[in-house]
Amino acid sequence: MAGPSVIVLDDYETLSRAAADIVQEVVAASPSARVVLAMGETPMGPYRELARRREMGAFDASRLVVFQLDEYVGIRPADARSLYSWAVRSFVAPLGIPLENVVRLPADGADLVPACAAYDRVVEEAGGYELAILGIGMNGHLGFNEPPSDASAPTREVLLSAESIASSAPNWGGREHVPRRAVTIGMAGLLRARKTLLLASGARKREIVHRALRGPVTPDVPASYLQQTGEVTVLLDREAWGEV
Ligand code: GLP
Repeated sequence: MAGPSVIVLDDYETLSRAAADIVQEVVAASPSARVVLAMGETPMGPYRELARRREMGAFDASRLVVFQLDEYVGIRPADARSLYSWAVRSFVAPLGIPLENVVRLPADGADLVPACAAYDRVVEEAGGYELAILGIGMNGHLGFNEPPSDASAPTREVLLSAESIASSAPNWGGREHVPRRAVTIGMAGLLRARKTLLLASGARKREIVHRALRGPVTPDVPASYLQQTGEVTVLLDREAWGEV
C-alpha cells in the first residue's frame, strides 16, 4: 500500500485553502456525502474558507450529511461548550446545512454501550463515511480515541487523557471543569472512511506528526493506523513538518 500522501504547505492560510479544495472536490463528486467533522483549532481555517466560498456563491454543501466525531458525555447539545454546538457554529450553519442532516453521537443518554453499538450498525448499513476530516491530538489520538486504541476500536465511551483535558481546558474555564468522559467514533469506523483528510499545523504538532506518519504502527499512537488505510491525504504546514 502506498500510504498517506503527505503535502506540506507554506503556512496555515495555504493549508486552509488546500483543505477547502479537497472538501469541495468531494462535495462536487458526491453532494450528499457522509462527512465526519473534527472540531479543534486546526480545521477552523478550512471551515472559514468553505464558508467564504459559499458566500461568494462558489460552493454548495447544503446536502452533506454531517457526523460529529466526538462529544463530551452528559453535555446537552444546546450547551455552547458541546462539540455539537461548535460544529453547528463553525460548519453547519455557515454552510447552510439543515440541522436534520447532522447525526449526533449518543453522548447524553443513559445507556451508552448499546447506543454506541447501534450507532456503528446504522453507519455501517448506510455504507460508512465518505470523508473524514480529522485533526491529531498531542498524544496521537484521532477524535477521542486515546492511546492505546487499536484499529478495531468501536464507537464508545472513553475516559479522557490528561492531554485531552488540558487541551479542552480553555473552552471550559479551566481543567477542573472539563468533563472526564467522552464518546468518540471508533477507530474501526474512521479507518474505513473512503477518504481521510488529516490536518496538522504548528511546531507543537511536529513530533507527534512524525511518529504517526513515520513511526511504527501501534495502538500507542492511534493516528499511526492511517499508514495502513485507503485514501489518506495529510495536509501540514511547514511548522508541523519541520525541515524538509
Ligand atoms: C481534540 C479533539 C480532536 C482534535 C484534536 C486536535 O482533543 N478530540 O478531534 O482533532 O484534539 O485539536 P487541535 O486541532 O485544536 O489541535
